[in-house]
Amino acid sequence: MRRFSAEYLEYTREGMWEGGREALADLSCGDRERVLDVACGTGEFTRVLVEETGPDATVIGVDADADLLAVAREGTSVSASYAAGDATRLPVRDDAVDLAACQALLVNLPEPADAVRELARVSGDRIAAVEPNNAEVAVSSTVEAEADLEREAREAYLAGVDTNVALGDRVRSLFAETGLVDVRTRRYLHEKRTAPPYAEPALESAARKASGAGLDDHRAELREVLSPAAYDDLRRRWREMGRDVVAAMRDREYERVELVPFEVTVGRVR
Ligand SMILES: C[S@@+](CC[C@H](N)C(=O)[O-])C[C@H]1O[C@@H](n2cnc3c(N)ncnc32)[C@H](O)[C@@H]1O
Repeated sequence: MRRFSAEYLEYTREGMWEGGREALADLSCGDRERVLDVACGTGEFTRVLVEETGPDATVIGVDADADLLAVAREGTSVSASYAAGDATRLPVRDDAVDLAACQALLVNLPEPADAVRELARVSGDRIAAVEPNNAEVAVSSTVEAEADLEREAREAYLAGVDTNVALGDRVRSLFAETGLVDVRTRRYLHEKRTAPPYAEPALESAARKASGAGLDDHRAELREVLSPAAYDDLRRRWREMGRDVVAAMRDREYERVELVPFEVTVGRVR
């Protein structure tokens, strides 16, 4: 199973869904009674689902990573609960919820169809998948080397990763193949802007660039296509860029914009 650090999830999800939630309209959150957020991680999307559903709705986050669940439980000031479980064998009976949703799960699975089938098994009404198109991420930065280095690392990652991290239209066909009806897709562009005054997650992300930890999170995938020397060279240039980011932040001169397109696909089980 692909693992993620809590810092990575908190930073990448920061501000997501603050720029409007029209793309979630087909989930009909206001009409839901029992909602499952599958592969909830640190609970970033679970909290959005709690905000969008009515006060009487039950929202439960499930993830296979106990460390992330611990962070989700600590960080929550909203009424969600969390449980351990595998997305392809959910510890939930058939038709137990009226919405089973996931965000950034399918792109991380070798067989995403298994999870789609499982979402459909546990929901008596709708299922939803919010999936990023990682091939279309765009970055601009005041630190000259950053956008090019991120593109270089992203291209190597896309070539080395063993799952389809840019599912695009494939989610619609997975839903259709699973027998879901009334399948609809909306697009959401997550614009992530970093500018002074810098929030803690942005400072942590810069420190992780400077130390190389951010790149090391994806070492296995990058090493699939890069030789040891090429990886070391990328890491050296990455850390140098990270140190420039930290210095520019110290001078309050650093700005960065990242655009990540997400597709929200919703279907009904019957
Ligand atoms: C990119 S993170 C997304 C987390 C969260 N949904 C969000 O959007 O912030 C992917 C999550 O899927 C979880 N995951 C991966 N494979 C899983 C599986 N087979 N069963 C349950 N969780 C899984 C990981 O632990 C991680 O929390």
